[in-house]
This record gives sequence, structure tokens and C-alpha cells, in this order.
Amino acid sequence: MSLKIMEFLSFMVAFVVLRLSLSRTTLASLATIRPSEFMRDNTTLVSTEGLFELGFFSPGSSKNHYLGIWYKNISVQTVVWVANRCEPISDSSGSLTIDDTGNLVLYGQNKRVVWSTNSTKQAREPLVQLLDNGNLVLRDEKDENTENYLWESFDYLTDTNLPGSKFGWDLRRGLERRLSAWKSWDDPCDGDLTYGIELDEQHHTYPQLIIRKGSAKFCRVGSWNGVSFSGHPNARRADSLFDYGFVYNDDEVYYVYDLKGKSVISKLVKNEKSVISRVVMNQTRSVLQLLVWIESKKIWETNSSVPKDECDVYGICGANSVCVTTNNPVCQCLKRFKPHNQENWKEMSWSEGCVRNNPLSCHDKEKDGFIRFSNLKVPDTEYTWVNKSMDLEECRVKCLSNCSCMAYTNLDIREKGSGCVLWFGDLFDIREFQLGGQDLYIRMSASEIVNHEKVRTDRKVKVERALIITAIIVGLVGGMFLVGFYIRRRRYSYDKTQDEDLELPLFDMHTISTATNNFSENNKLGEGGFGPVYKGSLEEGQEIAVKRLSMCSGQGVDEFKNEIKLIAKLQHRNLVKIFGYCIHREDKLLIYEYMPNKSLDYFIFDERQSRLILWPKRFEIICGIAKGILYLHHDSRLRIIHRDLKASNVLLDEAMIPKISDFGLARTFGGDQIEGNTNKVVGTYGYMAPEYAFNGLFSIKSDVFSFGILMIEIVSGKKGRGFYDENSSLNLIGLAWTLMKEGNAFKLVDKCLLEDPYNNMEEALRCIHIGLLCVQQNSIDRPNMSSVILMLSGERVLPQPKPPAYFADTDLWKGDHSLSCNTCITDVEPR
Ligand SMILES: *[C@@H]1O[C@H](CO)[C@@H](O)[C@H](O)[C@H]1NC(C)=O
Ligand SMILES: *[C@@H]1O[C@H](CO)[C@@H](O)[C@H](O)[C@H]1NC(C)=O
Ligand SMILES: *[C@@H]1O[C@H](CO)[C@@H](O)[C@H](O)[C@H]1NC(C)=O
Repeated sequence: MSLKIMEFLSFMVAFVVLRLSLSRTTLASLATIRPSEFMRDNTTLVSTEGLFELGFFSPGSSKNHYLGIWYKNISVQTVVWVANRCEPISDSSGSLTIDDTGNLVLYGQNKRVVWSTNSTKQAREPLVQLLDNGNLVLRDEKDENTENYLWESFDYLTDTNLPGSKFGWDLRRGLERRLSAWKSWDDPCDGDLTYGIELDEQHHTYPQLIIRKGSAKFCRVGSWNGVSFSGHPNARRADSLFDYGFVYNDDEVYYVYDLKGKSVISKLVKNEKSVISRVVMNQTRSVLQLLVWIESKKIWETNSSVPKDECDVYGICGANSVCVTTNNPVCQCLKRFKPHNQENWKEMSWSEGCVRNNPLSCHDKEKDGFIRFSNLKVPDTEYTWVNKSMDLEECRVKCLSNCSCMAYTNLDIREKGSGCVLWFGDLFDIREFQLGGQDLYIRMSASEIVNHEKVRTDRKVKVERALIITAIIVGLVGGMFLVGFYIRRRRYSYDKTQDEDLELPLFDMHTISTATNNFSENNKLGEGGFGPVYKGSLEEGQEIAVKRLSMCSGQGVDEFKNEIKLIAKLQHRNLVKIFGYCIHREDKLLIYEYMPNKSLDYFIFDERQSRLILWPKRFEIICGIAKGILYLHHDSRLRIIHRDLKASNVLLDEAMIPKISDFGLARTFGGDQIEGNTNKVVGTYGYMAPEYAFNGLFSIKSDVFSFGILMIEIVSGKKGRGFYDENSSLNLIGLAWTLMKEGNAFKLVDKCLLEDPYNNMEEALRCIHIGLLCVQQNSIDRPNMSSVILMLSGERVLPQPKPPAYFADTDLWKGDHSLSCNTCITDVEPR
């Protein structure tokens, strides 16, 4: 009983507090403050166009009074600046005025000075004004230059950085603009989480953005490389709401962000009159967030935040290692380095980091060299040296000349790259990205370079082989005048030919039958397109997946062999690897690598499993699938149209790297053929492009269509087949299209992603947008895979999609249309 009363009382208190805070906004307000005018606790100062308001407030449940700036028209009180952060006034006696010296002064009880500005220049007619960008300024009314401030609050940031405000150093004044989080919701005094641009006293190191917890580095956003911050290579994207700038000269080192031009914004954010945004250090969640106000929902939505995944945590992998979110575990030594302590490393205790396999031979300068590493966030720049005018070659020479120089790269990666950064000592806090990132040249001993060259040569063998063969022919025609030469080449070419004949292993039926326990039901992994799949284990312990092809086409054994050999030549990180094949009477089997994490559908459509792949992973999966398809379409020697892309055909390895399966089985092409016509429609309802499903016309664009569906499925966690709006019977694409038109695409994003602090809403919305571009009705309008990849990386402005195929035409989806599937290799599975 008493509990009920308590609850009621606390509700009443909350209600009264709410009423009080609401009524405060209707207090008398000023436009400016001049000498001898006072702004008291019950008054506010309103910005020039009414966006911001300066006044007294009490944070959270505190009864203390603070002078601060907040948004006037936002219903959730959001304070962006506080004057007396650590000097609260305990009652409503506070008042703000301009004193005799022309400074802004805040008085507390008994006229005690609680806070004041300390401008050394005295104004003839001082005036205080709050600008509409949230900057509180003290200026001289007599000064014709209205932007000549004697003091401004933008120079003394608290926990918030507003658009257009400089963040960083004014070296001439020795002024650092840095953020520090509040201690708690009730106390705006500086907490231990801070964020700033760091450089050494002589300003010779490469400046970098660092979040610290106390004195320890907590997260490194990284250095500006001319395009973006090294730790956020995809931040500056064409569809981003924001523009970023970095100024780095002898007088100033600062970073500033602002909204892009209005026209871009109205395109990107529908139904929002203007975009209100802020960057804030959030003490309770230990993150730096870029937030955007969504008026329709009355909330601050996270546009992006750091740290955004475990690899963003400073130095998680120790020295000379690299963090890769798609790897499991995420830490690995840089190539040619090994764990300092093998045992601890295995137990995922990475703090001791890695050491070189082979020590550097610095004494003999000629012998060291460099190996290039790509797609990186470059290491911590605390011990670096920069020169803006050197080029990459000068940079290399400079690094080689100093034994403690470990790595170098360009300062600015735009165009061909310019400037030079050198790193000294161990390399810390490197990560590798799927897309974007920059190159880093790491010093290696001569022996490593030789090995590296050898590996590179092996990779180039294909090209070189052609050259060698040509050389031999020329040699033969030329009359073999150098016998020794001829013999050597002859041996070489012999080795290489062997290499070429290294064929896909032919397994015998007995081996496979034993491995799969005689194709037992227990070993059955599932029924894919083209037949059932079994798990098997070879005698050596190697795990395999065996696909038993149900081929009743007229294809002969030789044709089948040839086809499989061709397919087996397709090798890509995002395609399932084929180990071999087996032909036994009517049975045709394909032996693949085994994927322990099953397929993508098992994760994304399951409420519990879907929590295991949150946004960063999902985005990586999307990018991986895109790269695999790109390879099939454009990069491989054959042009392959998959024709049955869907979630269950995307397998996941132990590190959750996506691998496309069943590629090339439907049909293989010659390199130049990009369209075809078939009367055997293979594919799956819900993923099939209309021109393919109804007319049997397939092209790379019909794969793009399926990829579009798949991408929207991954973002939404909903199946492409199925209806999501009872009233208008919209399917998933229809729903996506409708929500996007309304400017509500965020409603489509999987709930478990929305709840995740690492979610990157901007990326998720971009994926939905690209997905809709991929499923446009007319195949000509759909982008090809290379454009899709550029769009994913944000390097391309996204056009507005035209209406998608089947967007509410439910009949087309339900009916059994005349799919002329005349064989059993179809996989039409109306679920
Ligand atoms: C006053 O000036 C000093 C140095 O010039 C500076 O450190 C301090 O933060 C300033 N105080 C305020 C309230 O602006
Ligand atoms: C930077 O490099 C240029 C060109 O090599 C050189 O002229 C200049 O003196 C260097 N600056 C510093 C500070 O070393
Ligand atoms: C190498 O670079 C380090 C760091 O800048 C410097 O302290 C050292 O004097 C340099 N050594 C030589 C031989 O130039």
C-alpha cells in the first residue's frame, strides 16, 4: 500500500518538475545583454533566429542551478554548453551581466563571482549575443566587423561540438578546444572521458583525434588523410548529411563539420524542415555520438558513433598486430610478425603484441626494404614525423636512413598522394577494413622481402606464363643459339606446365561414401538447389560438404567434367571453394569446403540468431557478397551469372565471412556473353527478376535484382517472400519502397539493430536505398555490381530509385506462373 503511495508521489513530483521545466521556456526573454543589464535566473537570452536559448537550468535530479545553452524548440531539454560546469549555484540567485572591464560575469549568492570571461581587449560598447549556431559571443557594437569576437563560447567547448564550430587548436593563442563528458546526468562538471586533437609540442607529429578515459587512450578516431579520418574511411560519403574539413598549418590545427547544402539535405531527409545535429561525448555509454534530431519521433537518433566495434577499442591487439572484425579472433599479427608469447596469444590475451620473424638488419642499409599493407587504419601517430612536401619515394629514402623508422606513408591520400609520415618504434592500433582504408609501407628485413617477392611472383605466374611461353617460342624460332639458356627455360616451362595440369582432384566413390557415412540422413546438411548436401569427414580429418547433383539433363560425363573444371578455377574469398568431384555411374558429386556456420538465412530470419550478427558484421557480409558477385560477373575469366542468389546460398565460414555457393552450376558462359535466354528457369520465387521469371531472360542485372532483395533482407531481418502490411498486402520490396517514399525507411531496419549502440543508421539506410535501386522494374535502370560496390563505400551519390518490380502486385507472387521448368535441376520452392 505504502509502495503505491510512494509511486504516486514520485509520479507527482516528476509531473511538477516537468511542468516547471516546461513553464521555464515561456519566461521573459532578452535578445542581447549590454553593460548594467542583468539576465536573472527567471530570464533567458534567445538566439538571433530563435533556435537556441541561454538561461539557468538544473540537470537531472539536481537542485543546483547552472548557466547553459539549449535548443529552444526541442521538447527534450538538450543542453549544449555550460558556463559554470563545476561551480553550481545552489539557488535561484544567479545573474549574468557585463562588468566594468567589459567581461561577461556570472554572479551567485551574495554577488560572488561564479564564472567570468577574461578577454584582455576592452570594448567601447560591449554587447552579448547568442548566435543562431549556438555560439554565445561578446563583441564590440562599435566594431564594424561583427565577427570580431572578444570572447566566444565556441572556444570553450563542454561536452558538445556543434556544426560549424572549430574543434582543435589555435596554436597562436595556445588554445585547445576539446570535449569532455559530464560527470553524470546530474552533474555537468568534467568527467574523465575527453576527446581532442593530439600533437606534440613542436607540432611535428601527425595530428590525430583521440578519446581518452582519464589519461589512458580509449579510442583513436585517427588522423586526417585528406579524405577522412583514418579510423573512419567511409565517413565522408556522398550521401552523408555532413561535410568535414580539416585545417592543419602552423597557426591552427582543427576539424570542423557542417551540414551539406540545403538541396542535398532535402533530398536525403524527407519531411524534415531542417536538420538539427550535434556531436556529444556521452559519459554513461562511453561513446562519442553524432546525433540527429528527428522531429516526427521526438528523439535524437544516432547517425554514427565511436567506438563502433571492438576493433575501435584502442590497441586491443597489442604492438605490431592488426584488428579485423571479420576474423575470429579479431586480432592477428601483421604479416611477417609472430606473437611475442605464443601461449598467451592463443588464449586471446593479446596485450604483449607481436615481434618480427626476422630482425631488421639496419647496419646494412641496403638490405632492408618495405612491404605495402593495404586497407588500413594507420597506426597511432604519437611517435611520428611529418613533412608535407616530400613525395612517397623521398619518404621511403628518409625512412630507410633512420634505423628506428618502422613505417611510412603519404600524409594526404588524394589523387596520387602527397606528403610524408614516418613512424618510429612499434606500431600500435592498426585495423584493416573491408572497404576503404589506406596503404602503409612497413619496414622488413631483406629475407622477408625476398620471400614476399616470391609470393608475388607466384601470383603473377598466370601473366608471366604467357610471357615465358612467348619467350620460348621466340627462342625456338630464333634458332636456339644459346643451348644453356634453352635448357634452363625448357625446365622452367616444364615445371609450369605441370602446374597448369594440376587439376581438380577426382575422388572415388568409396572415399566419399565412407566420409559421409554412406550418405546417411544424419549427415544431411540440407537440400540446396541442384540436390542434397551432406557433411563428410575425410580420413585425414578434413571436413567437407558433398553435393549430390540430381542431374537428369542430357549432359554427358565429359561435358560435366569440363564444366566443373571451369567452375573450380573460380577462386575468390567470397566464393565457396571446390575441393574436387566424383563421378560414379549416374551419380555426380561435388566436394566443397565445409562451412561450420551454415547459411545466412539461418541467422538473419531468426529472432535469436539475428542478435549474433549486428550491424558492422552485417555490413561486412553485404560487402563480401557484393564482391563475390562482382568477381563472378566481371573479374573472373568466365562470366558467370549465378541465377539463384538467396540467403540460403550464402554460407558463412568460422569467421562469418560470406561465401556464395552454387555459383556456375546453372550455366557457364563465354567471357563476352552478358545476356541469355533459357527455357529452363532455375531460381527461387521472391528473388527472381521479372524479366527472368516470366520471359526466361537472364543477365547480370537479374543477379543484381536478387542481390537487392538479399540486401534488404539482411538489413530488415525479414524474408523477401511474405507480406508485411495487412491493409495493402505489400511485400518486402513494396514496404521498403513505401517507407522510403515517406522518409521512414528507418522503420524497416531490423529491431535488434536499432537497439545496438554500434548500429550505423546511415549505412543501414544507404543499403536499403541501394537495395531499391537494384530491384527497379526495368533492368537497364539497375546498377551493375561495380557501381553497387562504389555506392556501398559511399563514394557515389545515390540516384532516386524508380518503382520496383512487383511492388504490390501480389498476384504475381502467389500464382504458379508458367515457369517452364522442365528438369529437376530447378529450385523453385514456394514456401
Ligand atoms: C581565462 O584565460 C586563461 C588563459 O588566458 C584560460 O586558461 C582560462 O580558461 C580563461 N577562462 C575563461 C573562463 O575563459
Ligand atoms: C621537407 O621536405 C622538403 C623537400 O624534401 C625539404 O625541402 C624541407 O626542408 C623538409 N622540411 C623539413 C622540416 O624537414
Ligand atoms: C631517427 O629518428 C628519431 C626520431 O625522430 C631521432 O630521435 C633520431 O635522432 C634519428 N636518428 C638518426 C640517425 O637520424
